[in-house]
Amino acid sequence: MQLFNLKDHNEAVSFSEAVVKGIGHNQGLFFPDKIEPLDNIDELLDTPLVPRSQKILRHLIGDEVPQLESIVADAFNFEAPIKEADKDIYALELFHGPTLAFKDFGARFMARVLSSIRGDKKLTILTATSGDTGAAVAAAFYEQKGIDVVVLYPDGKISSLQEKLIATLGGNIKAVRISGIFDECQDLVKTAFDDEEFKTRVGLNSANSINVSRLLAQVCYYFEAVAQLPKDKRDHVVFSVPCGNFGNITAGLIAKTLGLKSRFVISCNANDTVPRYLQSGVWDPHKTIATLSNAMDISRPNNWPRVEALIKMNGWNKSDFDFGSMSDEETCDTMRDLYSRTGYVLEPHAAIAYQILKNSLKEGETGIFLGTAHPAKFKEVVDKTLGIDIALPEALEKRVALPMQAVTLKPDYENLKSYVLEAVKA
Ligand SMILES: Cc1ncc(COP(=O)(O)O)c(C=O)c1O
Repeated sequence: MQLFNLKDHNEAVSFSEAVVKGIGHNQGLFFPDKIEPLDNIDELLDTPLVPRSQKILRHLIGDEVPQLESIVADAFNFEAPIKEADKDIYALELFHGPTLAFKDFGARFMARVLSSIRGDKKLTILTATSGDTGAAVAAAFYEQKGIDVVVLYPDGKISSLQEKLIATLGGNIKAVRISGIFDECQDLVKTAFDDEEFKTRVGLNSANSINVSRLLAQVCYYFEAVAQLPKDKRDHVVFSVPCGNFGNITAGLIAKTLGLKSRFVISCNANDTVPRYLQSGVWDPHKTIATLSNAMDISRPNNWPRVEALIKMNGWNKSDFDFGSMSDEETCDTMRDLYSRTGYVLEPHAAIAYQILKNSLKEGETGIFLGTAHPAKFKEVVDKTLGIDIALPEALEKRVALPMQAVTLKPDYENLKSYVLEAVKA
């Protein structure tokens, strides 16, 4: 697989190089120039998750990573069921992995790919998270030999459960609260990747959704969703994706490029840079607003250039996408409405994806919205909104009792750099 820096086509890398580098120079994202469609989609859809995902990823990645098949089998060892949530609308529940979030797919795959290709080189993963990425990355890399993980997150702006999942592991997982917002965490990561000396010294790598290995892993569950539908519903599928950094939807659009018949709905909260852009043609990020769907509180989505690249590659029209954005009030109304009618429990991110899908769905179409996190991960808002006491899954219950092992830093690069050098003993 050959990938190019989207900011400089002269920087071409293999898949393994893209995984290790994370991001190209001048903060350019790696992305392929072309993606060959799969020619046996119907047959693939009749194949179980693991062998199907092995074929999809082998097709995308090519001959690199000889252990790819065993990596996929080990990484995708949990289910991604679809559940009927409303008439013609299914939830794709991506929260049955170890940290109960969709990120488990990408993070587990990436951790194993990196382990298999790193050789003797020591690596440091530096990642910024608005919640679930950090938890999934921490769990996926915990106790992986020769790899340290530094997770940055905005102080007080992720749920206490998300923080517990990041900050209670210890060992090779270093949790860093940044007294600022997520965009500042993301900027610190970007600055570190531009610091060549530091980058080489600690073997810097990113496990954010900018890492292409994570995106490719996520492609597989779009096929898994359609595979679970009755055959007569497979040709008119609409996916609604709750968008933050636009990694998840990039994966969906890669699946579409591979030949999965589907249309896509871009679902956002009040941080609506992309919906406004699609409507007006003007890219005008506003100040990031804190919402109940906090993992989507991003006003400069860093994967957007990849979506643009896919639009160009496929000759799609921006008007092919449906989109919408929702306030917190509408989000809660939606959660209450669906729960009272069908008993299905939505957390805020899924609620946005569900409602915007419902508004978009046409006669004869089957809607699938992505359930990106377990509702119990947003217990406070879910309980308060629905008047229930949602049970924490066992995995989370155990973690809540453990003490936090996090440090707090200002959003200052030099500060962060000294901390990392000490923490990973580089
Ligand atoms: C629960 C949840 N939903 C949606 C998203 C948005 O996904 P993406 O950043 O890939 O657009 C995230 C991202 O962290 C998330 O944690």
